[in-house]
Amino acid sequence: MAKNKIHSFIKKHNSISISRFINFCLYESENGYYQKKKVGEDFLTSPEISQMFGECISVFFALILKKINTTINFCEFGPGNGNLIKDITRSMHRIRKQKINYFFWEKSKFLNEKNLKKLQSKANIKKLQKLNFKREPYYFICNEFFDALPVNQFKKQNDNLYERRIKFHAEKLKIFNKKVNFSFRENFNLKNGEIIESSPLLKLYLNKILNHIKKFQGGLIIFDYAPFIKKKIDTIQAIYNKKKCHFLDYPYDSDITYHIDIKEICDLAIKKNLNVYGPINQKKFLFYNGINERHNFLIMNCESIKKKKILNLQYQRLIDPNGLGGLIKCIYISNEKLNMKFFNE
Ligand SMILES: C[S@@+](CC[C@H](N)C(=O)[O-])C[C@H]1O[C@@H](n2cnc3c(N)ncnc32)[C@H](O)[C@@H]1O
Repeated sequence: MAKNKIHSFIKKHNSISISRFINFCLYESENGYYQKKKVGEDFLTSPEISQMFGECISVFFALILKKINTTINFCEFGPGNGNLIKDITRSMHRIRKQKINYFFWEKSKFLNEKNLKKLQSKANIKKLQKLNFKREPYYFICNEFFDALPVNQFKKQNDNLYERRIKFHAEKLKIFNKKVNFSFRENFNLKNGEIIESSPLLKLYLNKILNHIKKFQGGLIIFDYAPFIKKKIDTIQAIYNKKKCHFLDYPYDSDITYHIDIKEICDLAIKKNLNVYGPINQKKFLFYNGINERHNFLIMNCESIKKKKILNLQYQRLIDPNGLGGLIKCIYISNEKLNMKFFNE
């Protein structure tokens, strides 16, 4: 393996935690995957596929916020190329005829306020340098953000708890188990052979967002790869040049994700006495928030057959039950009690 920060770290400390490894691979300032590659080069997210995704989210918020006349604060975590910022800003402005505030928190250097200058008449857009919010309601948006955060794995074996770590074996990166002496809550539910995945950064961001909602109102919408019930197995996966690979195979050059635990997020919100809506899959969310109507409208107003075909393809990709439509789950968390039956049907 070429000499780099991961190499030096392991040489110095003998091993590295999985979360630190992922952090180097994805976010190191010079070599990190997200500093070199733009979202969309190896995999497509919903906002990269079509404007219809952001338009449906706007319909959802427009309904929730119809009685509110003050300027609305949105805050998106990990907006990538900023497509959702563009689509939500345009459609919220079309629906409400009002400027919004749109803050974003993004590590990648590709996106800054200058890229979004054209939207100035529709929104005050600001890249956050620190995670500080005004003492006002915020509507937080996270699309495929939490599953891109570094995660650690713990495994139970022979009634002992081990952390899965990475070291060199014959100059190749290998996973090994290191016995853990501390006991943590999740360990009580683990059976031998089971693995639990835990992201310290997810908990940090989630607590910050939920505490803000609890105190100042607003809400959080999450779309992320996740099963309804997460199994206690290794879910870390990587993509290198559009193909699946092992996450140790191409450090710095592959995108690494894992399946978040939706139930854990819901439980945390419920513990803070917040209301949780969902989880539902992306397809259902989009159906109930007007994707069919929007798709029909766009098709009707489209003269070229080629463009119609593209629109149909984009629509199919967003709702595909075997793709984004089924694999991505959505939840909404708020301090208010809302009448949103579709989340429970
Ligand atoms: C999988 S991409 C999703 C991008 C976008 N939301 C979309 O759907 O196209 C994850 C994004 O989160 C950003 N990100 C990851 N960790 C971050 C962190 N700790 N703080 C800010 N941004 C982060 C990455 O740079 C990347 O743009």
